[in-house]
Amino acid sequence: MAESLIVSKTAARRQQYEELLPQLQSLSNGEPDLYANLANLVAAIKETFGFFWVGVYLVKNGELVLGPFQGPIACTRIKFGKGVCGASWESGKTIMVPDVDAFPGHIACSSISKSEVVVPVFVDGEIVMVIDVDSDQLDDFSQDDIDGLEKIANLISGWYA
Ligand code: SME
Repeated sequence: MAESLIVSKTAARRQQYEELLPQLQSLSNGEPDLYANLANLVAAIKETFGFFWVGVYLVKNGELVLGPFQGPIACTRIKFGKGVCGASWESGKTIMVPDVDAFPGHIACSSISKSEVVVPVFVDGEIVMVIDVDSDQLDDFSQDDIDGLEKIANLISGWYA
């Protein structure tokens, strides 16, 4: 695996996702352990974009349970339909929240978090986890993040093959 990430600091975020994606793939090459790969993946996203919190919640026994993450400590369990993560799990859709205070039922793990994107990861038509990215800036996310994070979700899905 590569020892460090090479992503242009000055490029637009869409371009940065394009540069990051193959490196995320190579980080996991030859490594079968899901948690090890997720740990590096969230670290790579955090390092590239500097987001406040980046992590995954995995579906376990009918709940979302905290998995590898980078950032401050967070809530460990989220119920189906609860918060942005649970809503994404319930709807099967990516949810972008420009202002978390305006999202009914948002679960505030930290008052510093201002905007958020949650992307479901599908394996054989079932959601196995969600990727959760929080920013300390209001309205920090755009379609570029949705597209980039959905490609990353697709990459994770391939790890189950
Ligand atoms: N805000 C999320 C909870 C997870 S933390 O942001 C890390 C939610 O509403 O589901």
